[in-house]
Amino acid sequence: MYKLIAFDAYGTLFDVYSMGQLAEELFPDHGQALSLMWRDRQIEYTRLVTMSDPSPNGSKHYLPFWELTIRSLRYVCKRLGLDLTASNEKRLMDQYAKLTGFSDSLEVLKTIKSKGLSTAILSNGSREMLATVVEANGLKPYLDKVITVEDVRLFKTAPQAYELLLKNFSVSKEEILFVSSNAWDALSARWYGFDVFWVNRQGHPFEEIGEKPNYEGNSLSKVLEIIC
Ligand code: LAC
Repeated sequence: MYKLIAFDAYGTLFDVYSMGQLAEELFPDHGQALSLMWRDRQIEYTRLVTMSDPSPNGSKHYLPFWELTIRSLRYVCKRLGLDLTASNEKRLMDQYAKLTGFSDSLEVLKTIKSKGLSTAILSNGSREMLATVVEANGLKPYLDKVITVEDVRLFKTAPQAYELLLKNFSVSKEEILFVSSNAWDALSARWYGFDVFWVNRQGHPFEEIGEKPNYEGNSLSKVLEIIC
């Protein structure tokens, strides 16, 4: 029944918390806190930018996700009292650019393509960082489109961001399955009107507001049970 399977990128196909290991090496005893706080602050910044000027032409406060990722890293290091040298910042951001994919990301995309369905990424990530991480993980041949919110200068969870899927593919809302490991993203995609698969690798509770996702599984591979 679905014609397009659309994936969130960071946290869903690519493991943002894999940064914890390098962070631990650079800042012993702070790696885990740094990677958790870094991710939270990065998303917080996307919300600030979007909510402070949700204009249809994009937010005047818009900065590319890559830039917000650097700024949030700087903030968190200051907050934790860690000295982020230019070379450590570069090492962390170089690794972020080529973030490790989850072990099943490639196989899942490959299988979906082999069934004749369309695949896409819809991400807050900026165009260049998405191109780099997709290429580094060998996913490019299995993605019909990599869509970035850069085109609307509003981050998810703005409806204009989710709408990009409808603008890029000739499918109806009902023919799209949106896949995300981020509960906030799963929730807002559901609010937008997509069917949603929530990848809940850590067994977390879902949010206490909004509708529950249509499907939930503890790995990306479980998506295949829905569509195959
Ligand atoms: C994405 C992040 C925010 O949109 O998960 O890829």
